[in-house]
Amino acid sequence: MTPQKPLLMLASLCMCTAASGQRPEEQNYAQFASFPALGSLKAIERPSGPDWMHNAVIYQIYPQTFFDSNGDGIGDIQGIIAKLDYVKSLGVDAIWVNPFFESPFRDAGYDISDYYSVAPRYGTNEDAKELFAKAHEKGLKVLFDFVASYTSIDHQWFKDSCEPAPNAHSNWYVWTNDTWFDGMDNYMAGFIQGYCLRNGNYLQNFFWSQPALNFGYGNIDPQQSAWQLPPNHPEIMALREEMKNVVRFWMGMGADGYRADMASTLVKRDDEDKKYTRAVWNDIREMLNKEFPGTFTVAEWEDWTAAKGGFNSNFLHWRKPFYDLWFRNNDSYFLPAGKGDITRFLALYLDQREKSGDANYISLTVGNHDLPRVNRWGRDKADLELIQVFAFTMPNIPFIYYGDEIGMRQLDFQSGKEGCYGTRAGGRTPMQWAGGANLGFSSSAPDKLWLPVDDAADAPTVAAQEKDPDSMLSFMRELVAFRKAHPALAADGGFYPVYAQKDQYPFIFIRAGGDEKLLVAINPSATQASAQIKGTLKAKRRLIKGSECKWSEKGDNTIISVPARSYAIYSLE
Ligand code: BGC
Repeated sequence: MTPQKPLLMLASLCMCTAASGQRPEEQNYAQFASFPALGSLKAIERPSGPDWMHNAVIYQIYPQTFFDSNGDGIGDIQGIIAKLDYVKSLGVDAIWVNPFFESPFRDAGYDISDYYSVAPRYGTNEDAKELFAKAHEKGLKVLFDFVASYTSIDHQWFKDSCEPAPNAHSNWYVWTNDTWFDGMDNYMAGFIQGYCLRNGNYLQNFFWSQPALNFGYGNIDPQQSAWQLPPNHPEIMALREEMKNVVRFWMGMGADGYRADMASTLVKRDDEDKKYTRAVWNDIREMLNKEFPGTFTVAEWEDWTAAKGGFNSNFLHWRKPFYDLWFRNNDSYFLPAGKGDITRFLALYLDQREKSGDANYISLTVGNHDLPRVNRWGRDKADLELIQVFAFTMPNIPFIYYGDEIGMRQLDFQSGKEGCYGTRAGGRTPMQWAGGANLGFSSSAPDKLWLPVDDAADAPTVAAQEKDPDSMLSFMRELVAFRKAHPALAADGGFYPVYAQKDQYPFIFIRAGGDEKLLVAINPSATQASAQIKGTLKAKRRLIKGSECKWSEKGDNTIISVPARSYAIYSLE
C-alpha cells in the first residue's frame, strides 16, 4: 500500500519540482519546424467564464509592501486604494490581492485566524468594501486570496478541534485517533504530535502552524479507518458549507473572484486525477454560478485537473519545464547564454492544454510572491522585455507581479520574516514609488518597515520611469496595450508552434484570432539564431513590433534569422 504523501511534502514538492522530480510528459520534447496551413488557423472555442477574462491582464498586489497609507511601515488597503489610478494606468483589468485577513502572520497572512475579518494592520472590512467599490468605479476587478486547505492554529475552529471533548469542529481538521497511533512509519511525516490535550496528532498543510482542514480521504487506508474520514462525512460536508459561506461573504462585499491557494491539496491520499478535490471545488463553483454568476477563479494547481474542478485558470509555475524558462541560472531559456531548451516547456504546455480540453486558460506568471524576482542573474532590461513579450504573446492570462513592471530587483534577504525564508523575502520588498525616504513606500522610520527597501543608488522607481519613454514601465504599458489591441494575442487566440527545436533558438509561433494572424519570433540568446522551417509562408508579412528578422528561402525551406536578444511580431496578411 502506498503511504499517503504528507501535505508538507506536497508543498515542498511544489517548490522542489524546480530542482528535481519530473513528470512523464516532461521527458518528451515538443519539436516543430514547419509552417501550418494558414487558412485553417483560428481562435479556440472560448471556455466558459466572464467576458473580461478572455483578454485579461491581472496585476498582483502584495498588501504588506504595496503602499503604506498610515505610516506604520506596513502596506494597507487604503494604500492600495490610493494607488488604483496607477494600477489602472498599466492597462490591466483586475488585481489579485494576497491574503488580508486576520492572522498571527506566521506565514505572511496565509495562516488565517478569521476568514471574515480584515487584519487590523491592513484596515477594516469597510476598507475592503471601499477597495472593491473604488476599483469597480475605475473599471478594475478585484480577486481575493482564498485559502481553503488549512487555517492558522489560532483559528477558533482549530482551538475547538484541539479540545478532547467532541464538538462541532472536532473533525474539521485531520487528526489521528491516538497520539501513539500505530501507523507511525507511514503517517508520521507532516503530523504534529503532542500539541494539545486532545489525544491525537494533527496534519500540517505547510508550516506546523497551518493545520490541514479536513476534506476527507479519497482512499481510506483500512488500517487507519478509525480516523481517516470519507469526503462525504457529515462533518466534512458542514465544513464545505462553511467554506462556501466564506466565499459568499467576500463576494457579497464586492469581490469579483479569487485566487485559490494550494487548491489541489484538499482531499488526502490517492485522490486520483483529483476526483474528490474537484468535487469540492465544483460544488463551490455551482454555488457561484447560481449566486454570483461571472465570478473568475484562478488556482494554484499545477495541472489540467484544475479545469475540471471548475477553475477559469490555473498556474504552472511549480512545474520544472516552466520554472526553468527564467528562474534558473545558466540554462534558463531566457538568458543570453543561450543554453536553454524551449521544447520541454512546450511539451508540458501542449500536454496540459490537450488534457484540459481547453476548458480553461493557463496563466504563465512571470513572477509572484513565492518566486524569486525575475530580475536576477544579472538580467538587464532587454532580457526582461523578452520574458514579458513571451508572457504577453503566448495564449494565457498574464499576471504582473507588483514591481516587475519597473524591473524591481530580487534582494538578498535570507531572513525568516513571517515565513519568507530564502528567496521569498527578497522578492517581497516594498514597492518603489519614488526617490527619497523609503522610496515613497511609507513615511515610517526605515527600521519599522515590514522589509527594507532596495538601497541601491539606481533602484528603479515609478516616478523616474514615468518620465522616460524608454523605461521598463513605458515598455510594459505599451505591451499591455499592444496585446489588448490584437485579438490574436488574447487568451482564446489560436496557438500554432512553427519552430521549436531541442536546445535551439529561436522560438517561433503563430497566433490567430479575430481577423488576424500574427507570427511571433523570440531569441533571448546573445547570438543571432536561425530557424530552418519547412515550406514557405503563404502570406505577406508586416513587422508590427520588435526588430526585423532576416528571411530567406533555401529549396523548400524558409530560413528566419532572428537577431541576438530580440523579438519580432509580424502581422500576416
Ligand atoms: C502561498 C504561499 C504560502 C503557502 C502555504 C502558497 O501557495 O502562495 O505564500 O506560504 O501557500 O501557506
